[in-house]
Amino acid sequence: MKSERQLQEIDIQNRVSAAYESERYHCLHSQRYHVWWAEKMLASAPDKGLWLDLGCGTGWIQEVLLLKNQQRSLIGVDISDGMLRFAQRKKMPVVLGDAEKLPFKDGCFDGVMAKGVMHHLSDMASAAAEIARIIKPGGVAVLVDPNLSPLRALKYILKNRDNHFSSLHRSIRPIDLIRQIESYLEIIEFNYFGFFAYPAAFPDILPLSISETRMETLIQLDEKIARIPFLKRFCWAFKLTARKPSSGN
Ligand SMILES: C[S@@+](CC[C@H](N)C(=O)[O-])C[C@H]1O[C@@H](n2cnc3c(N)ncnc32)[C@H](O)[C@@H]1O
Repeated sequence: MKSERQLQEIDIQNRVSAAYESERYHCLHSQRYHVWWAEKMLASAPDKGLWLDLGCGTGWIQEVLLLKNQQRSLIGVDISDGMLRFAQRKKMPVVLGDAEKLPFKDGCFDGVMAKGVMHHLSDMASAAAEIARIIKPGGVAVLVDPNLSPLRALKYILKNRDNHFSSLHRSIRPIDLIRQIESYLEIIEFNYFGFFAYPAAFPDILPLSISETRMETLIQLDEKIARIPFLKRFCWAFKLTARKPSSGN
């Protein structure tokens, strides 16, 4: 049984799916950013075994695998059928389902990736338990979400903000996600990322247009900023990698 807020989330995600396809992932500068971002996640995810793209949306990670001619067994799950229709066009096997009650057996995935999903959920604790349940012992979860930095106040200037986000959507403090995940999994890596380049990666929400060359320069600058103590905490996003203890640990 879905709550009112989840129904609102589904309605919004069904509507914005077309803008993901036509703008976010297909304007050249933002596409460049999201290829870099997906590759960053894939680099933390061993390329063997069966992976779940949790909240797969329109199947962007699958699209990057196709663009880069990489083989990987990936299944997508999402609560929005509108999003999944686009993912299916990329030959991604998909399942309609809720991250808080996943329709999969225990231990059937080698890992889970979730790009920009945990901060959309009404119950992050249930999703953390579900991620841990469906991963095999020794398997890995790679989660990326927006960081609750002081710069987030700028979100109020976003075009179509209310059309784009349900009342469930929020930025989260890394510690809030870490606390949920470490109840089940061992955190093995944590990084901040995204400073100057990140805001230009969402032309469907913030109409910033820059050249691909400028985007590349900003990505490289951001990589340096993400290593500077204190300043890195102002990054727009963070990536958390965690492993399920092997049996007997
Ligand atoms: C910001 S979008 C990210 C989509 C995709 N990962 C990407 O990076 O393009 C968040 C996604 O989470 C999905 N989502 C929200 N709540 C969910 C839930 N409870 N279970 C599964 N998916 C959910 C939305 O439908 C949407 O596709």
